[in-house]
Amino acid sequence: HVLEDSAARILTELEGLEGPLLPILHALQAEFGFVPQQAVPLIAERLNISRAEVAGVISFYHDFRAAPSGRRVVRVCRAEACQSMGANALADRLQEKLGIGWGETTPDGGVTLEAVYCLGLCACAPAVQVDGELLGRADMARIEDILSEVAE
Ligand code: FES
Repeated sequence: HVLEDSAARILTELEGLEGPLLPILHALQAEFGFVPQQAVPLIAERLNISRAEVAGVISFYHDFRAAPSGRRVVRVCRAEACQSMGANALADRLQEKLGIGWGETTPDGGVTLEAVYCLGLCACAPAVQVDGELLGRADMARIEDILSEVAE
């Protein structure tokens, strides 16, 4: 019940805020690394909204994960400057190579692929972030290099 207890504590701390849903979801994700499925009914009950509403907000915002991430997280910028510099083709190749789509994790739990909308590296598009590391002028070879480094 550790999860339920932590979720209940977070809810108690934040439910009094005006517009408490996003702060609660952010706090849950900070605590667990994702927004646990079990927290959805708790949130719905406390905030007096439907479970579907809570689930809808979680899936709407790209910042929230509904499941734990893989050991590595690759985030590809899909905003305009990067798109104009080939981010879409890069993303296609990554998805093909990893066999997953946006927000998904490889079956071995190794890599999660996420879309982001501007990493502040527009001048060095296309931009990618692997774990915490920002990578400008990204290409497949460099991404694969970084992914193989720590995995070894
Ligand atoms: Fe990709 Fe800004 S648009 S980093």
